[in-house]
Amino acid sequence: MCGIVGYIGKRDAAPLLLDALRRLEYRGYDSVGEATIHKGKLYVKKGRGKIEDVHRELKLDSLPGNVGVGHSRWATHGEPSKRNAHPHVDNSGKVAVVHNGIIENYEELRQFLRDNGYSFSSDTDTEVVPNLVSYFMKQGNGFEGAVRKAVGRLKGSYALGIVSVSEPDKLIAVRKESPLILGLGSGEMFIASDIPAVLPYTKRVIILEDGEMAVITPIRALVKYTDSGKAIEKKPLRVAWTAEMAEKHGYPHFMLKEIHEQPEAIRETLRVSADELAQLCKMLLDAKRIYIVACGTSHHAALVGKYALAKLADVSAEVVISSEFQESCMVDGGTVVLAITQSGETADTLKAVRVAKAGGARVACLTNVVGSSVTRESELVCHTYAGPEIGVAATKTFAAQVAYLLLLAFNLAKMRKCISKVKFDELVAQLQETPNTIDAVFERTEKQIEELAKRYKDAKNIYFIGRGIGYPIVMEGALKLKEIAYIHSEACPAGELKHGPLALIEHGIPVIAAVVPGSARGRMLGNVEEVKARGATVIAIAADNDEEIKRHVNELISIPVTHELLTPLTYISPLQLLAYYIGVERGFDPDKPRHLAKSVTVE
Ligand code: AGP
Repeated sequence: MCGIVGYIGKRDAAPLLLDALRRLEYRGYDSVGEATIHKGKLYVKKGRGKIEDVHRELKLDSLPGNVGVGHSRWATHGEPSKRNAHPHVDNSGKVAVVHNGIIENYEELRQFLRDNGYSFSSDTDTEVVPNLVSYFMKQGNGFEGAVRKAVGRLKGSYALGIVSVSEPDKLIAVRKESPLILGLGSGEMFIASDIPAVLPYTKRVIILEDGEMAVITPIRALVKYTDSGKAIEKKPLRVAWTAEMAEKHGYPHFMLKEIHEQPEAIRETLRVSADELAQLCKMLLDAKRIYIVACGTSHHAALVGKYALAKLADVSAEVVISSEFQESCMVDGGTVVLAITQSGETADTLKAVRVAKAGGARVACLTNVVGSSVTRESELVCHTYAGPEIGVAATKTFAAQVAYLLLLAFNLAKMRKCISKVKFDELVAQLQETPNTIDAVFERTEKQIEELAKRYKDAKNIYFIGRGIGYPIVMEGALKLKEIAYIHSEACPAGELKHGPLALIEHGIPVIAAVVPGSARGRMLGNVEEVKARGATVIAIAADNDEEIKRHVNELISIPVTHELLTPLTYISPLQLLAYYIGVERGFDPDKPRHLAKSVTVE
């Protein structure tokens, strides 16, 4: 969570920091701030609220100077407020720090600093950092030496950007367990939590790893081990993403744009190398036990994967929510863990991976972000190619994950001779056709969904039901509605209704039913009847050749027919659109849902 940025070069730092922060706002947006240095003085502006609101009031781009740091916050310690906003400055007003992560021992450090005459003006864990740097500078250390000594006292996770008036020609970046990249320009350098922040300025990046720091001047970024200070030779990466890919292109919100980019995300992802797929298949086939770990939307994609692996390839995988992995899972040398995380930075998933490795498991990951933390923790790295996803709600990365997992299941099924070569070719061809089918789904349903959004925008509760592969579809639909429209929504396996949730169904309550073709369809119709009989208004998503369903429901969202296993790709768009349009109808910003952030880097 939180986005940090930094700049050093010849240009005015403040407007560049502001632009970079806007590109990182999806990481956190409860407060924002910048600090720059000019003629031996530190300038700071910060406030509570979204970037545009704070900027309107404070003119964040008006700070003077060619070096500075900026921060967009997702609060952990201390409520969102001006005094808790970053950058935080030491007592002498000479050192400014932006931080993403959590300093676990901040209470103890506060006490140490108080004993040495320091005081604090915020509730944050971060404020100890500039004061520790200042403390060690007063002990006679230079800026870099003081930062290394200060960081040596920190426990927890941190990506830090630090500037000091004592050495205004330097920007220092430090990383431990929170993402941080360096953007290498010509005569200017950037730091940022994520690559999209620097895309308009450079495509050459260095990804800092845990335990590394960088001492940056306009012409050089010297990477070192934070503890020893020993220099490290790091090769810059050239990123393929463009700045354009991270812009809205006329759409009112990133979420809507990214929903519509799903066909392209699937096409690109299906270009996976045969070698990568073969390695993953082999790893899974060699396993005694397979876990797929993930959170949120990635967890729903994992459930689709589990279903496809079992149904088609006779491969059993247990899907575990990452934060529960260490509580409940048995790990040994025969275990393989597949970690699915679009950002590659989700702390819960990284923790599950570390727990798995400590128990002797082999780890593969599926991520959308090249060079992200999970890639460095995994023996085998697999990629989706959805392009940068800026909206906090995962949409196109879900489609890309599902497409990848389906292709994996098809390949495993062929290798295990569960399906013939002809069947395999047929399934792959159908999967490759889904981008076109999804375009047809948009054509056919978007207007209808806008109408439905107007009708159901004031619903207090909306229930979702599905069976088999329809269940992860509705789980994802319900999650989207919660996070974007703030409507209480629950997904229930349709067969489970009668074991309790049916008691909640009353007259007029909307129930959204994913009726997928296949063996569970008949039983699903029975469940639709159960809720209708109790007064629910049923909105079904079903294949357009399903004539019977029309007689059972109040509203039908009709989808071109596909194989049952492909329905998570074709049925999800109307549910994403429904959440989007209801959110907009209710006056919320779908790109920045309250209390949430794109990359969840705390456990
Ligand atoms: C999805 O819309 C959410 N914002 C969230 O559940 C997300 O999917 C989850 O935090 C996992 O993120 P990851 O894929 O980057 O690990």
